[in-house]
Amino acid sequence: MNPNLHGSAWSGFYKKTLKERQNQLKITFPDLFDPPSPATSIAPSVSPVSSVYSTPLTSICSSPISREYSEENKSNDTLNGINNEQFNYLIKKLESLNIDQDPFPIKGLDEHIADKMIENCVGTIGLPVGLALNFIINEKPIIIPMAVEEPSVIAAVSGAAKTISSYKGFTAVAPERNSIIAQVVLLDIPQNSLNLAVNKFCANMVKRGGGVFDMSVRRISRTNNRNKKHHPISSENFREWLVVHLHIDVCDAMGANCASTVAEGVAPHLSELTGGRIGLRILSNLNVERMTRASFRIPLSLLSYKSYTGKEVAARIIEAYEWAEIDHYRAITHNKGIMNGIDSVALAAGQDWRAIEASAHAWACDGVRGDYSQSNNYRPLTTYWIEKDDQLADCRKEGDDCLMFCGELELPITVGTAGGVINTNPVYLYNMGIMGNPNAKELSMIMVCIGLAQNFAALRALATEGIQRGHMKLHATNIAFAALRCYEDETNSSRPSHDIMSVARRMIEKGSITLTTAKELIEESLPKSQISQCTHM
Ligand code: MEV
Repeated sequence: MNPNLHGSAWSGFYKKTLKERQNQLKITFPDLFDPPSPATSIAPSVSPVSSVYSTPLTSICSSPISREYSEENKSNDTLNGINNEQFNYLIKKLESLNIDQDPFPIKGLDEHIADKMIENCVGTIGLPVGLALNFIINEKPIIIPMAVEEPSVIAAVSGAAKTISSYKGFTAVAPERNSIIAQVVLLDIPQNSLNLAVNKFCANMVKRGGGVFDMSVRRISRTNNRNKKHHPISSENFREWLVVHLHIDVCDAMGANCASTVAEGVAPHLSELTGGRIGLRILSNLNVERMTRASFRIPLSLLSYKSYTGKEVAARIIEAYEWAEIDHYRAITHNKGIMNGIDSVALAAGQDWRAIEASAHAWACDGVRGDYSQSNNYRPLTTYWIEKDDQLADCRKEGDDCLMFCGELELPITVGTAGGVINTNPVYLYNMGIMGNPNAKELSMIMVCIGLAQNFAALRALATEGIQRGHMKLHATNIAFAALRCYEDETNSSRPSHDIMSVARRMIEKGSITLTTAKELIEESLPKSQISQCTHM
C-alpha cells in the first residue's frame, strides 16, 4: 500500500475543529461509530479481539463515502484498496462534511460503571484523547489513540512518525507467546525437589491454548537482603528461600489475575514437596519473556529538520543519546519521554500503565538486563547509531549518501486485549477499534513503536531548536483557557468575549505565560464588577 495516501487523508487534521475531527473519525470508522449506537449499550459493536488486524485504511475503503464513490463511478476498487482519484474524492467530501447527529461517544466512563469498578468511588476523571498520526508499522498504516494531559506529546510523536514513515516506517517484533510469571516464595527450605501439575489452576487458559508451560526455580539467600535496620525477633528462621517461577501462556490477556490465581493455587503443593513454609504468592511485573522491539532506519538525507541538515540532526541526536548513556540524571528524563508515548496509549487502551512503567524502569538498569559491566547503571531504553548501507553503497552512492540513521527501543511490556477492564469502558473499545483491534502482541508492538517515535521527537527537538517554543504555544493556550474559565465559573455567565488564542498570543509576546499575566490581560477590558468576582486564582 502507499503510505503517502494514508497520510494525506489525515493531513491538516490538527487544524480542524473538534467536531470536524469527530466527523472524520465517524466517516473513517463506520463500523465503529455508526449505529447500533453504543449509547444504549455499554460497549460499541466491535469485538476487542479480532484475529484480523484490519488497518484504518481498510476501514476508509469500506466507508460510506468510498462506497458512494464506487457506485457513482461504477468502480469496484473498494474491494482492492483505493486509488488516488477516489482518495481525493474522499478528502473533498470530508472537507465539506457537516454531520451533527448524536453526541460523539468518546467521552469517558459512566459513573455507575465506575462505581462497580473500584471501592469508595465518588466520580470519574476525564483526560483528552487525541490521535497519533503518520505511523506505518510493519508496512501497515495505523492511527493510534493516546490519552494524555501534556501538550505537545501528540504533535511531537506524529511529527516524528511522519519523518520515519517517509522512508519505510517502523519495524516491530514481539515474542510469539504472551507469557507471565507467577512467583511463589517458599521460606525455611530444608530441600528443593519439585515436580507438579499446575494447569488445573488456570483451566480456562488451557482451553484457549495457553496455560503453564514452564517452571524455574531460584535460590535466594536471605543474607543478601538490605534490611539492616531490622532487629530479628526469631532466631529460628532458615537462611535460604526458594522462589518458584511458573511461566504461563496467557494468550491475549495481560495475565495478572491468572498468574496470582495459579500462584495461590499451587503454593500448598510446592510447600508439601519442598517442606518449605509458604510466603508471598503473586505475579512478577518483570516479564523479560515479553520483550518487544521497535526499530527504524532512515537515510541521513531524509532527516533534515528546520534549518538543520540531515547529517547535523543525526549527529546531534546521537550526542543527546550518548549523554543519557553516561548520566543517569539525563537517562531518567530521556526514559520519561519514552513513557509519555507508551503510557498515553496504555491509558487510551485500558492497560495497566503502572505495571508497564515499573517493568520499563527496571529494564533500564544494567543489573536487571544481566549486564554488570557498567556497575549497575540506569540507562536510556533507546539506542541510536549510524551505519553504512551496503545496498546504497552498491548503487554507487558515496560518502554520507550511503549512511543510514537507525533507532531502536526494546523493552519487556505486558499488555492484554482480552479480559481486564477493556470491556467496562466503551472508550477503550473505540480506541482499540481505531487501531484495528490489535491482539496483545500487536498492541505491544504499537506501544513500543510509539515510545521510540516519542523519544526520537524529543531528542530531535531538544538537540535542534529546543522544545519550549512549540510547547509554550500550547501551554499558553491552556493557561488562557484556565484563566477565562475562572471568570465563567464565578459569574455563571458565558465566557467573556476574549479569544483564548489572543490571550495566549499576547502572553507569548510578553514572555510571561502565567495565570497572573493571563488575568491581567483579560481584566484590561472587563467591567469592574466582573473583575472582583474572580478571586480564586
Ligand atoms: C517532557 O515530558 C519529556 C522530555 O523531557 C523528554 C526528554 O527530555 O527527552 C522532553
